[in-house]
Amino acid sequence: MDLKILLSWSKKEFSYLPWRRERSIYTTLVSEIMLQQTTVSTVQKHFDRFLERFPHLEALAKATEEELLVAWKGLGYYRRARNLKKIAEHLILHHEGKFPLEEDKLRCIPGIGPYTSQALIGIGRDERALAIDANLERVLSRLYALKEEKGLKLQKKIAELFLKKKILNQKNISYRDLNEALMDLGRVYCQARKVSCGLCPLSSHCEAFLRGNPLSFPHEKALDKKRSEDHVIQVLRLIVMKKDHILAYKKSEKEWLSGQFEVPTCLLSSTDKKLIQYPLLKQKVDWAGLPMFKTGITKYKIENYIQVISYQEFKALQFPQPVEWRKYSSESSNLSTASIKAIQRLKKP
Ligand code: ADE
Repeated sequence: MDLKILLSWSKKEFSYLPWRRERSIYTTLVSEIMLQQTTVSTVQKHFDRFLERFPHLEALAKATEEELLVAWKGLGYYRRARNLKKIAEHLILHHEGKFPLEEDKLRCIPGIGPYTSQALIGIGRDERALAIDANLERVLSRLYALKEEKGLKLQKKIAELFLKKKILNQKNISYRDLNEALMDLGRVYCQARKVSCGLCPLSSHCEAFLRGNPLSFPHEKALDKKRSEDHVIQVLRLIVMKKDHILAYKKSEKEWLSGQFEVPTCLLSSTDKKLIQYPLLKQKVDWAGLPMFKTGITKYKIENYIQVISYQEFKALQFPQPVEWRKYSSESSNLSTASIKAIQRLKKP
């Protein structure tokens, strides 16, 4: 199989992605952590801004929590931003601000797991390594019709075949380009539920395509081993404004979006009875008919109902968290994205 056709397709179509323009191990670390749970199109919108704000490890290590969360805005899963800062601090403290060359040393850095270490070597350094994410898992399981169940077993099988040079074995190849081209293929032509084999540069070599059943790979886990069902929760977001200030509270360490500010938010109902994320209100509120928008976090689908009230009305509700007046601006307020959405939603006619 000649992989060069795949690599030239990817180069031609996707060289413009911001993290592919200029490379260093540091920029690769940033992009890889961003891309782990966020789509390419979202990362594309935020990557340059984050790097302008934190152009090197030192800047990142010195960032305050607030600066970090503001720069991470829009990317979600904020734990990753803190993780990134911890990696920067560790490298400065223990490795003179440089990334160690050896894989086992990279793996000793808290926050760098098997995927990130392979990505740093394969993509960051362009050395022989395969960063096996969900895209690579899917593409390679189809290309070689691997029978292992999706997940850890399949990833191990792919890593082993790659190590023994039984797959993707081609001389004079850029491993950076290879990793990224396979990711591109998974995102564009070889998606989980939709394939465009007619356009795929590898289809004539693809075992699953030749067998006529690409969508049956990777083999799915039995249903009872899968994660439990999604939950739906309803929250009430109270908007209390005074000129360009808004009442907000800081999310605690145990809560989602810890460190960010949120407009006073109460739980109205939830299909997960164990959920402790938002306080309950003592009074009953009639929320049917209030303006609503939907958001999501991990396995929770959230319906956000919005109500504007006066400060007096708010005080009467005895909201159990300490609140403060925060200057409202969508760029730099450290207000959660959902809180900003709630305010913007009210401004629309
Ligand atoms: N997903 C993870 N890393 C990626 C990259 N470098 N390009 C595109 N998608 C990715």
